[in-house]
Amino acid sequence: MDYKKLFDQYLLLVNRLMPKPPLPPVIGIDIGTSSIKAVELARAAGGVEVRHWAIEPLTGTDTKSALKKIGERLRFNGQTLVCAVFGKGTLIRYVDLPRMPLEDLRKSYIYDLDKYFPFDPKSIYTDCSILDPENKDKKMLVLLAAVKKEMVDERLKLFKEAGLELSSVTINSIAIANAFRRLGPSVNASGKAKAVLDIGGSASCLMIFKDSSPRFARDIFVGSHELTKKIANALGVNEAQAEALKLAPGEKLAQVLEACDMPINTLITEIRLSMDYYMTEKNVQVDELFLSGGGSLLKGMSDVFAKNLGLPVKIWNPLESGYLKVPAASGEIQNYAAQFGVALGLGL
Ligand SMILES: Nc1ncnc2c1ncn2[C@@H]1O[C@H](COP(=O)(O)OP(=O)(O)OP(=O)(O)O)[C@@H](O)[C@H]1O
Ligand SMILES: [Mg+2]
Repeated sequence: MDYKKLFDQYLLLVNRLMPKPPLPPVIGIDIGTSSIKAVELARAAGGVEVRHWAIEPLTGTDTKSALKKIGERLRFNGQTLVCAVFGKGTLIRYVDLPRMPLEDLRKSYIYDLDKYFPFDPKSIYTDCSILDPENKDKKMLVLLAAVKKEMVDERLKLFKEAGLELSSVTINSIAIANAFRRLGPSVNASGKAKAVLDIGGSASCLMIFKDSSPRFARDIFVGSHELTKKIANALGVNEAQAEALKLAPGEKLAQVLEACDMPINTLITEIRLSMDYYMTEKNVQVDELFLSGGGSLLKGMSDVFAKNLGLPVKIWNPLESGYLKVPAASGEIQNYAAQFGVALGLGL
């Protein structure tokens, strides 16, 4: 009798039956250009629960002070902290590579960094992920990400100066992809693709999903701040008044939308170009567009998108998924649902 094998099996069984210590809650912290959004998530039966949340505007205050205020409200004490960077200096590539284990991929792709990214390989941090690990095809779909070192180092410094320790840094669009995958509408394997556009204050981020997995991502440098500027110019008001009109246009809606015509059209053109590119490359059509981010809340904007793109366009509320439990005590977070996609994706 092989006693060693028997003993190993016994240990395995004991290990399986031993109660596991609960995973520490995770706080996703989205440092946007308009505000910092943070949400603490913890495991709950059949999914994940919102424990605490906070939003702190960045107008008239510096990021470090706003981050400290978030810390006071969420009482950081041992939770895992995750944040993201975005924009110029970050890049994501979706590539098909011969199937191999993740450890082998990690060792091999770094020799080809200059092939994938237009950055000096010494100036970036990179990572990779296999998007279809269960698939048995000879080829696999891989996500490669690169970020300029100084952007990550700056984030680490900011948190350190606020007395906090970050566990991970990722890219906004990866966080949105995480959130959309778990908290998005159930995407069936229809052969068609879905697009998500997160319209923030300074920029927007477009992603294309197929079979619940992200396939394409790009940043478009048009955001909702630009709409405010256009409203101010067209209606002859100052920026604070223009911002107020953007949030509640009332009977001036037609004038507000007309003032925003140019930036909205730029977004539409860029979305169309990306969808056409994806269609040509992969022969897959995008049949629905979901909007998130505070900028998506401009009244009437989704109708303009739908009319010009010839697609159904919906505002995506990540708090409506059955996977995420939102206790009634979480109160007002529902009012900010469109803005919490990135923070939730980081927490997940
Ligand atoms: N109800 C609303 N109607 C129109 N615009 C809105 C509304 N609510 C918020 N916004 C706009 O959304 C923007 C903020 O959105 P969000 O919080 O997603 O941006 P951010 O994450 O701070 O910015 P970025 O992602 O560019 O760094 C602001 O420009 C704000 O004016
Ligand atoms: Mg944002």
